[in-house]
Amino acid sequence: MSSVVLRRMRWWDVEPLLPVEAALFGASAWSAETFWSELAAPGRTYLVAEDGGGALLGYAGLALAGPDADVQTLAVAAHAQRRGVGALLLDALVAAAREGGASAVLLEVRADNEPAQALYAARGFERIGVRRRYYQPEDVDALVLRLRLTGAGAGAQRS
Ligand SMILES: CC(C)(COP(=O)(O)OP(=O)(O)OC[C@H]1O[C@@H](n2cnc3c(N)ncnc32)[C@H](O)[C@@H]1OP(=O)(O)O)[C@@H](O)C(=O)NCCC(=O)NCCS
Repeated sequence: MSSVVLRRMRWWDVEPLLPVEAALFGASAWSAETFWSELAAPGRTYLVAEDGGGALLGYAGLALAGPDADVQTLAVAAHAQRRGVGALLLDALVAAAREGGASAVLLEVRADNEPAQALYAARGFERIGVRRRYYQPEDVDALVLRLRLTGAGAGAQRS
């Protein structure tokens, strides 16, 4: 997609992104308070993607926790999907994890979320576990995925 700008998420970005969050995640959507506490927590990298006119395209967040980093969220507005914005955000989170010294990036994805799984697979994430019936009340499993940043398996990422 032409002219996508990534920048740090600030507290005042939260209210405007809530409709996108609700549309994408439904009953599991984060509240404004959840975003604000994430932004205030240590070791977090939250980014927003905008078009050249400053309109919101997507956002993503990473938490550095011990030796690993966790993808907390990744979202691209429906109208902006499938144009490379999600990959751009994910690559930026992985870069932040590397810069923060993480040895791996971990995340959970719904077993029925094929678009996200395709994105993560294309970026070299491997499935390392399943949390059965993790998402309630929908009763959907979570797949635990990992991208190694050091040691064996590192370098599988394509960017
Ligand atoms: C998952 C999501 C972030 C992907 O964002 P996106 O901007 O549409 O993804 P991109 O355009 O960067 O796609 C990159 C690659 O991912 C894969 N991919 C993305 N969407 C896909 C889809 N609908 N079907 C199949 N593959 C898909 C493809 O390999 C794609 O590369 P290609 O377009 O060259 O084939 C977006 O669909 C989204 O926000 N979904 C709802 C929220 C969500 O599920 N978040 C993840 C929670 S773990």
